[in-house]
Amino acid sequence: MLLIKKIIVPFIKKVRLKKVNIDDRFIKERQLGQGSMSEVWRCKDKLSGRIVALKVLDREKTERLEARFEGLNRPTEGEVALKLRHPHIVRTLEHGFTTNYEQYLVMEYINGVSLTLPVALQNELMQTHRLKFMVEMGEGLEYFHKQGWIHRDLCPRNVLVDKHNSIKLIDFGLVVPNTPPFRAPGNRTGTASYMAPELIKRMPTDQRIDVYSYAVSCFEMYTKRLPHDVDPTLTLDMVVQHINRPPTDIRELVPDIDDEVASTIMKGIAANPDERWGSVSAMLQRFRAAQERLEPESEYEYVDDDEAAEADDEYEYEYEEEEAEADDDEWEYEYEDE
Ligand SMILES: Nc1ncnc2c1ncn2[C@@H]1O[C@H](COP(=O)(O)OP(=O)(O)OP(=O)(O)O)[C@@H](O)[C@H]1O
Ligand SMILES: [Mg+2]
Repeated sequence: MLLIKKIIVPFIKKVRLKKVNIDDRFIKERQLGQGSMSEVWRCKDKLSGRIVALKVLDREKTERLEARFEGLNRPTEGEVALKLRHPHIVRTLEHGFTTNYEQYLVMEYINGVSLTLPVALQNELMQTHRLKFMVEMGEGLEYFHKQGWIHRDLCPRNVLVDKHNSIKLIDFGLVVPNTPPFRAPGNRTGTASYMAPELIKRMPTDQRIDVYSYAVSCFEMYTKRLPHDVDPTLTLDMVVQHINRPPTDIRELVPDIDDEVASTIMKGIAANPDERWGSVSAMLQRFRAAQERLEPESEYEYVDDDEAAEADDEYEYEYEEEEAEADDDEWEYEYEDE
């Protein structure tokens, strides 16, 4: 009896996964992105009638990534993303497997641009919203760390700016729990130019690797370039040669930058994690103070929290109802071992 309860039942639960035929369920309108691991489409979801963003992960690449964490029971991107509720993190509504055994995520559709665009253009949007973007990105990351995760791939490419000029963190494909087995040296997944030196050097890591990536992103928001002028096509071992040298001081590139903001960013990109800020909250506190000091009159168009909560409730309702029915729904199939 115990054997059935403890081993067989969980095994059956694990292999019995709902699979969705995405071509039947979604009307693909246009491709939003071709990431390194996935395809993202703007779709109409026939089930809810909503416009959503559908991310379908490349099966082979995902399996290769999962193999790197074998035995550690790393949660999937969908499992991580579904639990996140923050105004500056994209809302994930559902995740599962397609009938082709690919993982998929259904997200709110963000009508906006990647943060890489204003970084590259250094246009008025960037000049007038820099501190706001930095604060909101920090708020999303602070919440994320409080939930017990390490992002491992924070960079402007994985940040969207929506039509209200509000920041939304996306892409939780490389996330790991902030627990000892995942902090142990080894895996060097991420984006080379934003990777903390201790990660590249295969030393133990913690949430300070995200503090580093966040500070590099802030550096870029001011300067359009990286603190180490490193060719991103170099191998990681070549990159490490460069980052052993001190980074360019942001004050040399932006002479009129506020001193407190400059020193906050520079401390965030300290090569030695013990000389870096211990948490994103410490940076955030300084950026918020700078915002009050430098932009006391500015009136940003913030997302109305009540409105956001209402929109959230709507999602909740539709998808919970749908999930309640899902148990014996026709598109629930047995997961067949290959
Ligand atoms: N919810 C969304 N709404 C609108 N566009 C989105 C959304 N999610 C993702 N995108 C678009 O799709 C692109 C790829 O998404 P994402 O970064 O999640 O994929 P990835 O394969 O994990 O990427 P990477 O190349 O960083 O590994 C994004 O850069 C963005 O342009
Ligand atoms: Mg991405």
